This record gives sequence, structure tokens and C-alpha cells, in this order.
Amino acid sequence: MLNVSEVNQYYGSSHTLRGISLSVEKGQCLALLGRNGVGKTTLLKCLMGVLPTASGKVMFEGRDVTKLKPHERASLGIAYVPQGREIFARLTVEENLLMGMATKSGKNASVIKDEVYELFPVLKEMLGRRGGDLSGGQQQQLAIARALLAEPKLIILDEPTEGIQPSIIKDIERVIRMLRQRGDMAILLCEQYFDFAQALADKFIVLSRGEVVAAGSQDEMNSEDVKRHLAV
Ligand SMILES: Nc1ncnc2c1ncn2[C@@H]1O[C@H](COP(=O)(O)OP(=O)(O)O)[C@@H](O)[C@H]1O
Ligand SMILES: [Mg+2]
Repeated sequence: MLNVSEVNQYYGSSHTLRGISLSVEKGQCLALLGRNGVGKTTLLKCLMGVLPTASGKVMFEGRDVTKLKPHERASLGIAYVPQGREIFARLTVEENLLMGMATKSGKNASVIKDEVYELFPVLKEMLGRRGGDLSGGQQQQLAIARALLAEPKLIILDEPTEGIQPSIIKDIERVIRMLRQRGDMAILLCEQYFDFAQALADKFIVLSRGEVVAAGSQDEMNSEDVKRHLAV
């Protein structure tokens, strides 16, 4: 589904991403791990096309998307839930959800599917509220729901548990697990919350200073080597 090879990126003279390669298949969840400041968000922005890459290749479903704009990648089926959620604070929950369907046309762009409310019942009760009036956890649920309404083939989540209360983390975990089990999309989950990532991932990569320093399958995540790169 997603194949990334040798991606490099710079902020000015600072070499932020150093030859990063990764892949994630349909039905799989890849955990992207690493401490603060190692380049996780920068990498996700490059994959979404929000930032240009200096070199390297991003392939999606066998197609080279390296030079495509974010909205073009979205139309191809990549959805992105940014760190810090970035919902529209002044729009209602319903309007926020409709924004998620902007790449669709006709009826598909105007009717919010009930499935969203099955995944996140709280959103149904809050349709008329402004996004900015929701709790952090509810905003995260809204951001994920909005991404899912685009019916993506690949969903990219940047630290969905950051700053969120445990009960809502459980709800989000349940939804991601369900998406994974359903098997029709690829999931790229960037996390610093190790246990959460471990519970959901099929495989992982660890970044340190813009480089992949460890990678493996879920059963290898607990190794000392991995822990060493994550310990604060
Ligand atoms: N817009 C920017 N301009 C310059 N440097 C940046 C910018 N965004 C992030 N950085 C730097 O790039 C590095 C990686 O940041 P980031 O990708 O946000 O890391 P992470 O998501 O892993 O915490 C950090 O050193 C950060 O300070
Ligand atoms: Mg980040």
C-alpha cells in the first residue's frame, strides 16, 4: 500500500530526515516510535505532501506520489490526523465531519454515515456543538472520525493519545483495533505511548535523530534495543 524509500528532508541546513524507508500493507498497522524531536511529524508531513522531500520516493498503491500535493494524495485515499488534532474550532462537529468528505461528490459528500456514530457515539450527541468546545479527547475522536469519512485506504495518525484522558484512549484504541481487524486499510500510527502502540501494531520502526535505528515485528518491540531508543 505505502512504500517509502530513502527519504531525506532538511529544515534549512538541518538534516531532519536521513534516508528513511518504511512500508505498510493493507490490513496492517505500522507503529512509528521515537522520542520528541526525532522527526516523526516531519516524516508524516512528507508522506502527506504538506512538506516537500529533498530526495527519496513515496509510493502509494504502486504509484509514485512523491511530488503530489496534499489534496491529490487525499483524493487517492490517504487520510492524515495531525498531531494536536487541528479540527475547526469555530465550526460545529457536524460541519467538521462534512469537511472530511470534501474529496467526495454528490450524496457521498453530504450524508454522514452512521458508522461514524457507531465508532464514536459521543459525536452524535454533540453534532451542533462547536469543535472548540469539545474536550481534547473528543476533539481527537472528531479528528479521527473526519479522516475516516474520506474512506481512506491509508490512515496516518500522529500521536492520537497525546494529552488525552485514559478512558478516551481506550475508546480510540478500540476503534483503531477494529479498523485493523476489518483489514481494508493500512494504518500508520505515530506514538510515544509505547503500550498503546504495542497493543495495536503488527510491526514498528523507531526513529532517532531522523534515522531509522530499529525496526521489526510486534513481538520484537519489547527488546532492550528498542527501549533504549525510547527511554527519556
Ligand atoms: N517548521 C520547522 N522548522 C525548523 N525546524 C523544525 C520545524 N518543525 C520541526 N523542526 C525541528 O525538526 C526536528 C524534528 O521535529 P518533529 O518532526 O516535529 O519531531 P517529532 O514529531 O518526532 O517530535 C526537531 O528538532 C524540530 O525542532
Ligand atoms: Mg511530532
